[in-house]
Amino acid sequence: MFSNKKILVLPGDGVGPECVAEAIKVLEWLNSKLNIKFTLMEGLVGGSSYDAHGIPLTDKTLEVARQSDAILFGSVGGPKWDNVERVNRPENGLLKLRKELDLFANLRPANIFTALIDSSPIKKEIVEGLDILIIRELTSGVYFGEPKKIETLDDGSKVAIDTQRYTSMEIERVAKVAFDLSLKRNKRVCSTEKANVMESGVLWREVVSKLHNEKYKEIELNHMYADACSMELVRNPKQFDVILTDNLFGDMLSDQASMLTGSIGMLPSASLGEKKISDRQHALYEPIHGSAPDIAGKGIANPIAQILSLSMMLKYSFDLNKEQILISKAISNCLYKGYRTKDIMQENCTEVSTSGITNHIIDELNNLI
Ligand code: IPM
Ligand code: MG
Repeated sequence: MFSNKKILVLPGDGVGPECVAEAIKVLEWLNSKLNIKFTLMEGLVGGSSYDAHGIPLTDKTLEVARQSDAILFGSVGGPKWDNVERVNRPENGLLKLRKELDLFANLRPANIFTALIDSSPIKKEIVEGLDILIIRELTSGVYFGEPKKIETLDDGSKVAIDTQRYTSMEIERVAKVAFDLSLKRNKRVCSTEKANVMESGVLWREVVSKLHNEKYKEIELNHMYADACSMELVRNPKQFDVILTDNLFGDMLSDQASMLTGSIGMLPSASLGEKKISDRQHALYEPIHGSAPDIAGKGIANPIAQILSLSMMLKYSFDLNKEQILISKAISNCLYKGYRTKDIMQENCTEVSTSGITNHIIDELNNLI
């Protein structure tokens, strides 16, 4: 019996709430069948928090987040809030959570479900068996570097400034996560930056190489410029095992990697803080797709990335590895039987709704136990 773990559920905006509702159904299934008991709390984030409180994340919600063992996050943003001032934009609720909880290591797996191989826009032989793990630094770099502003110059024209900034500590701790995870995989890390034009890239390469040399010599490390990496991801993605990269490049490379798998609606992520001995490790789990406001509320969103985010939570926050594999297997079986949401629909398959696909996944879970 596994109990007393607190999960904060933050559905957010757009398709977030409908996808999160499906993930909760899976959690309830685990609860009823496997006697895994979690205490769920729910809060507002993003535009929905802005509408209710005038800010995208309240101190109260942040405090609940600090006290919880894991956060299940939906998605934030939408055109409704396009004209809201920057500090109060929905995305800022998410960025604040990442920063305040120091969730510096973002794990973005890109694996392909065999049943979906034909929905990848890339040729089958190139993506078959794909299994990449992108480790994106998540709390620094150009997302957070200061100065960050738009100013008016003396001649009345404007200048915009963002700052790419990394300390060696920030690089080292995320590199360590990448190396440690690669030890449980194929022991290959590709570190990605733009050392040819950016000082932050030079330091990145230096720190990663030093750590590798001192502690991880059994791992094969190579360095690649981020632009080349983006090209290689399409040309020959199976060369990669773990890709280590900064906040901005990681944002782009992970979207690109997701398309190799056929749909961005399929990929989950975990954002982890420092592992502490005495205290809990903060962790947030979210799909990498956004809030997709254009399809919100229509019952056609694909909840699989959200359900897989839940399964990553089971693995990384609660060491429930068997349950994580079980969920993944159930999804795979459901896809084999031809059930598809609209975004991954294929010939001779059956199109089902957001809740329809979850019901089939739960049927498969029942078949598996
Ligand atoms: C992501 C998203 C976010 C990011 C947005 C919503 C702030 O694109 O998680 O990849 O840019 O990090
Ligand atoms: Mg992104």
